[in-house]
Amino acid sequence: MSPKKPGRVRIAPSLLSADFGKLAEELAMLEAGGADWLHVDVMDGVFVPNLTFGAKVIETCRKLTKLPLDVHLMVVEPEKYFDAFVAAGAASLTIHVETSPHLNRQVMRIKELGAMAGVTLNPATALETVRDVVAELDLLLIMSVNPGYGGQKFINGAVGRIARARTMLDEARSHAVLEVDGGIARETITACWRAGADTFVAGNAIFSAADPRAEIGALRALCTERV
Ligand code: DX5
Ligand code: ZN
Repeated sequence: MSPKKPGRVRIAPSLLSADFGKLAEELAMLEAGGADWLHVDVMDGVFVPNLTFGAKVIETCRKLTKLPLDVHLMVVEPEKYFDAFVAAGAASLTIHVETSPHLNRQVMRIKELGAMAGVTLNPATALETVRDVVAELDLLLIMSVNPGYGGQKFINGAVGRIARARTMLDEARSHAVLEVDGGIARETITACWRAGADTFVAGNAIFSAADPRAEIGALRALCTERV
């Protein structure tokens, strides 16, 4: 079996880098630029140092855009928020293995609620910690920065981790999305694509570009050659 079988390319701009003073315009711009998903970073100030959004903001985004809301939960006890976030309009909920001791139960609960179930791990957490649950997943997210902030430098070791995650998904005959998050930009996206990722979160690279709308297409265009 080929070790690299990525699906279609998805670009998921991160809400964290948007200008909240003109949120409706920002979301319209992302849609016009061809974004596939809107990545929503929920941080609790406990698991990660930063504090961001709750159900109210997810609900607001749900009303402002048709883009599926890809919700990344950087919080302790994530299960406390599953019901409210799905009710608010989340399409997927991605939980960290570091905060999810009952990973199988938590993943099954997300699916039961009708959302896509995702799991992610910090850059220093062994990939083996997700092996026994990958067959159940709709999404596996590889962090390429230590979570907490946008605009950080891409950790190069993530490329090898994506390749190993791709093999793990293929071995489980999983069709899960393989997403990468942190420091994705023109300089880093192609290596991740070639390693087997298909879905790319990008905050700073899009919102700080001279033409944010065009940057979505520019990033996508860098994911067409397989080597
Ligand atoms: C980091 C977040 C990321 C972040 C990515 O903790 O999970 O989603 O917004 O931002 P960039 O693309 O700027 O690294
Ligand atoms: Zn994220």
